[in-house]
Amino acid sequence: SEDMYMLYRGLMLPKETHSLESLQFAQELAFKDEDVVSVTYPKSGTVWMQEILPLVLNGGDLTPIQTTPNWDRVPWLEEKRLAVVVDQMTSPRALVTHFPYNLMPPSFHTSKAKVIYVMRNPKDIVVSSYYFHQMAVFLEDPGTFDEFMGKFLEGRVLFGKWTDHVKSWKHTELGDRIMYITYEEMVQDLPAALRRISDFLGSNLSEETIQKIAEHCSFNTMKENGMSNFSLVNKLYMDFDKSPFLRKGVAGDWKNHFSSEQLARFTSVISKELEGERFSLPWS
Ligand code: PPS
Repeated sequence: SEDMYMLYRGLMLPKETHSLESLQFAQELAFKDEDVVSVTYPKSGTVWMQEILPLVLNGGDLTPIQTTPNWDRVPWLEEKRLAVVVDQMTSPRALVTHFPYNLMPPSFHTSKAKVIYVMRNPKDIVVSSYYFHQMAVFLEDPGTFDEFMGKFLEGRVLFGKWTDHVKSWKHTELGDRIMYITYEEMVQDLPAALRRISDFLGSNLSEETIQKIAEHCSFNTMKENGMSNFSLVNKLYMDFDKSPFLRKGVAGDWKNHFSSEQLARFTSVISKELEGERFSLPWS
């Protein structure tokens, strides 16, 4: 793990995509008031938002999603690639980040940049992440599902504990600069989710445009989009024989993976860590 991962302010990050330089670059980025940043704990809908945001921000113009790979179109704040593309980005810029709130750079706080926090059922996150660790060659082998779940619950995974991440973003001073949405809500009714996102960003989209965006951001369309399905990345980086990146795209796949013992353990750890929190989780 010392070879593949680095530790940055208590968080374990993959060296393939992150470096001290990229993390410093993120801290020094000058946020603009028109910027939009989608925040996710890993495997909660990041790549989905990389498809949605350019469409919602540009009246449904398909050019960005048809010509630019997702990692350049809506780059990760903390990853190496940002420094390469940031100067070519046009306003309003869209970014994604897995940072917990306390790692956001100073200029983010003084700007009026808007935040969309996407939350997903952690039971589905651990399943999605398990497959991702099998296919992403630059990540450690996850071991058995049971072992991986143990690491997830202890926070010995990329970007730390899920509960810490959610709590950090639920306790902000951002007021109406932040909107919360769930992956499950997006799966259940994407046009409705898009309307909420569009309203939040002040995009003023017609119903026809909402429907068009929903079609282009559906799981099946994204799976066929070479700019979004990671088919452009080298086989030495992602092994698609093990799993596609856009794997299943559903809510509740955990039911096919959790034993009843695992469910009991998972539920007990998570609910204990969220005890006393004012927000409740929309999942059973
Ligand atoms: S990462 O590595 O953190 O950027 O991964 P992330 O993009 O956050 O999460 C990947 C999961 O999101 C699913 N996904 C979608 N689901 C439904 N509809 C659409 N359009 C969509 N796009 C991405 C993706 O399939 C991963 O979930 P699983 O459960 O593994 O399928």
